[in-house]
Amino acid sequence: MILIIKYTGAAVLLLSVLIQLGQLYPHNDMTYFGCEECKLKENNIFSKPGAPVYQCMGCCFSRAYPTPLRSKKTMLVPKNITSEATCCVAKEFERVTVNNVKLLNHTDCHCSTCYYHKS
Ligand SMILES: *[C@@H]1O[C@H](CO)[C@@H](O)[C@H](O)[C@H]1NC(C)=O
Ligand SMILES: *[C@@H]1O[C@H](CO)[C@@H](O)[C@H](O)[C@H]1NC(C)=O
Repeated sequence: MILIIKYTGAAVLLLSVLIQLGQLYPHNDMTYFGCEECKLKENNIFSKPGAPVYQCMGCCFSRAYPTPLRSKKTMLVPKNITSEATCCVAKEFERVTVNNVKLLNHTDCHCSTCYYHKS
């Protein structure tokens, strides 16, 4: 049951990101529904009593600014305001192994450029 709730939460999160990216005037605050601020959350799947594993989760929509002319030309639908989406990523982490699975135990989060790293 907890798992179902978690996946629903993830779906809602993804949906809200998609909605947000598609809007002409994206919300620029952290209180957007379904989008919590970027912070460490306990990973319930790999956490054990006494050895919690943390991961950075949340949304970061850091800023909105007038669209630079150069990138405006490359846009399908030109917008005057660009909002730059950033991702909640680990600033610091340590490698841990739980149940023979190599994980990154995040110890600090920040909003930064979106990138995907192998864990
Ligand atoms: C992950 O990091 C937290 C805080 O730094 C620590 O308390 C916890 O024991 C670590 N978990 C594992 C599995 O090493
Ligand atoms: C965007 O800017 C252009 C020119 O600066 C203006 O003509 C247009 O109405 C603006 N569009 C919006 C949606 O504000």
